[in-house]
Amino acid sequence: MERERRVLCVGLVCLDIINVVDQFPLEDSDSRCVSQRWQRGGNASNSCSVLSLLGSSCSFMGSLSPGPVSDFIVADFSRLLIDCSNLVWVSGSTPVACCIVCPSNGTRTVVLSDTNLPDVSLDNFRKVDLSCFHWVHFEGRNAAEQVQMIQQVALFNTSVPHSDRVCVSVEIEKTRDELYQLFPLGDMVFVSKDVAQSLGFHSARAAVTGLYPRVRPGSTLICAWAELGADANKDGVLFHSDAFPPEKLVDTLGAGDTFNAAVIHTLSRGGGLQEALSFGCRVAGAKCGFHGYEDIAEKFGPNLRPQV
Ligand code: ADP
Ligand code: FRU
Repeated sequence: MERERRVLCVGLVCLDIINVVDQFPLEDSDSRCVSQRWQRGGNASNSCSVLSLLGSSCSFMGSLSPGPVSDFIVADFSRLLIDCSNLVWVSGSTPVACCIVCPSNGTRTVVLSDTNLPDVSLDNFRKVDLSCFHWVHFEGRNAAEQVQMIQQVALFNTSVPHSDRVCVSVEIEKTRDELYQLFPLGDMVFVSKDVAQSLGFHSARAAVTGLYPRVRPGSTLICAWAELGADANKDGVLFHSDAFPPEKLVDTLGAGDTFNAAVIHTLSRGGGLQEALSFGCRVAGAKCGFHGYEDIAEKFGPNLRPQV
């Protein structure tokens, strides 16, 4: 029987300590939250959760340091059937984010301590058996090194038949110049609203049009724009999906990671770009209506895929 190939997501995993509040606290005040929970976080790690809940087999690759926080994280990866065999163990402390989710404003405010663990290196990535994967998604972080990892994938692709090639997507979310060297490298590039705005674009459509010269011809550029949905550009052909707002905004933390995962899920199974964009907005919009990610399985998982 042919082995099922997976999606590999490379990037951050951290612990999110999430405080749900009914009013955003004043600075230097002392208040109680409505609820508090620990949740595995980090963009690539969240996208793995969503991929797995949607029914795509996936693996996570990122750095962790042994200790109680990583015990929690590893247990949670395995609970969601996410393969961790490519984790990179380093000494230091695992990143932790303090998150304030405020449903009445629809905001999520994050303060992340992400300073001391070395990112996945080219040497680490060289050890990955790429024949296990049909898609590798990079959360833009240590871009100079990630450029070389993507070159590794390109080299692998020259050595296999067309049908065994690995598709590469990159996420450029933070407004750091170093990350912009990733634009020409993905088969698919997710650029955030923050980056688009910082480069002078005021809509998703303007961003995917204006930034297209930075990507490789033939690749797909996607920009999500919160409650305005998302747009894409592939070789000058433009696509758009409106957002699918939930009845009530509850938790927008990880909406972008959810969107990316749902797009990758659709495309990696042979779906079209319009279908992927709409499904991405549908799943991400629904996610904003509940805490965490788990309910995605019930609403969109393999047994209950709604018609798009
Ligand atoms: P993030 O800030 O988490 O990176 P984005 O703001 O880019 O996320 O949103 C990603 C996707 O999530 C959007 O394209 C949209 O489909 C959905 N989304 C986010 N916020 C909302 C919202 N307030 N209402 C409906 N959908 C939303
Ligand atoms: C959501 C998220 C959180 C994490 C933060 C890191 O997109 O990945 O899980 O705390 O962003 O920037």
